[in-house]
Amino acid sequence: MSTLVVLGTQWGDEGKGKVVHYLSRQADYIVRYQGGNNAGHTLIFEDKPFVLHLVPSGVLFPEKYCLITNGVVIDLESLKEEVDALTKKKVVVKNRLFVSEQAHIILPYHKIIDGILEDWNVKIGTTKKGIGPAYADKVKRIGIRAVDYLEKDVFEDLIEKNLIEKAAILKGKIDIEILKKRIFEDYNKLSEFLRPFVANTSFMLEEAMKENKKILFESAQGTLLDLDFGTYPFVTSSNPIAGGVCSGAGIGPTKINGVLGVVKAYTTRVGEGPFAVELFDEVGDFLRKKGEEYGATTGRPRRCGWFDSVVVRHSVRVNDIRNLILTKLDCMEDLDKIKICVAYKYKNKIYKEFPASRTIQNYAEPVYEEMPGFQGKVKGVMSFENLPVNAQRYIKRLEELVGASIDLVSLGRRREEIIEVNKNVSWF
Ligand code: IMO
Ligand code: MG
Repeated sequence: MSTLVVLGTQWGDEGKGKVVHYLSRQADYIVRYQGGNNAGHTLIFEDKPFVLHLVPSGVLFPEKYCLITNGVVIDLESLKEEVDALTKKKVVVKNRLFVSEQAHIILPYHKIIDGILEDWNVKIGTTKKGIGPAYADKVKRIGIRAVDYLEKDVFEDLIEKNLIEKAAILKGKIDIEILKKRIFEDYNKLSEFLRPFVANTSFMLEEAMKENKKILFESAQGTLLDLDFGTYPFVTSSNPIAGGVCSGAGIGPTKINGVLGVVKAYTTRVGEGPFAVELFDEVGDFLRKKGEEYGATTGRPRRCGWFDSVVVRHSVRVNDIRNLILTKLDCMEDLDKIKICVAYKYKNKIYKEFPASRTIQNYAEPVYEEMPGFQGKVKGVMSFENLPVNAQRYIKRLEELVGASIDLVSLGRRREEIIEVNKNVSWF
């Protein structure tokens, strides 16, 4: 048995899709264990960008099994669209894509409530996909799981009760009877679509492990969006951290063999919330343009900033990351000078560990270390030794600051554009 968790170490959008696609070649099973279609994983397929939101990135390899486990919340319309798009591209998903019977379903009212809460509560800048409200119902013990969805009478009864519970918040936004009618009208189509995919994925994983299969767990979002360890309340409603694999997929902690962190060479975030290293100047604009930093799910421009080692050190700790893949280094190649945030300063106190206080997160000043730009081409380089010396120094300095080894460096969207810095690492 061999398992690897691949997760984001910042605020998502680190390039997990490409990394998972790269490593999927070596895996037998690729598993999504949390989040929903708020994720946007961009891959290159037949020379064109191809975005997946819910289906694991390994689906493009025909012989791999792809699991969406109990920790994920599922929008059936969106899953259907994705499956249809894959089918159109001649990617067969039948008998190799499986959805946990315990995964909770996102219903139309969750999406409406997501929008209402944004206007009413703290504005988080969510993707408005209904993610938070669906997880909230799971925690409230009124959620509808895939297995419940497939038992028509159970489903109808739960919808009736849930709509009574939701009536107050939905009042004035939508007519409950019309909404209910729509949900019931869509039921036959969606339940028929869902049925063949539903399985006991925790059991499937156990069987796979017994057969010595290689399993890759793919996170959505990043550690700073984690419900517990992120910039609360500006977080998503699930646990992308490595610990989330156990509860999100139904495997024991001793079954996790390795954790690979995906880290961008600079920092970005979409949505609201504290972001100490954010740049409002031409460097921020440069990174956004060069890195094509626009949300894959919502199209929103991403906020951009220098590398924040306080953030990544925090991620390295909470996930026990020993190995990292550094992405998008090529996007920094034309900068004259480069800064790295090494600590935060607030009211004359220096913080080296990521602070939990909202006030400190919001008002801390980044303490920067400065380095000269790379002064040379990075794009197209095939080995660490051939990178400009300043780029090599940048990588080594990041390793020192965050306390994990950068074993891979990605220099572009294509799967081949990856340098193996440490050739001795075997992922599985
Ligand atoms: P990938 O998998 C970047 C952000 C949203 C918002 C917050 C909560 O592409 O890395 P939600 O809709 O989840 O309730 O929104 O989380 N967010 C992401 N940001 N990449 C993602 O996924 C994200 N998924 C959610 O912008 O700030
Ligand atoms: Mg994203």
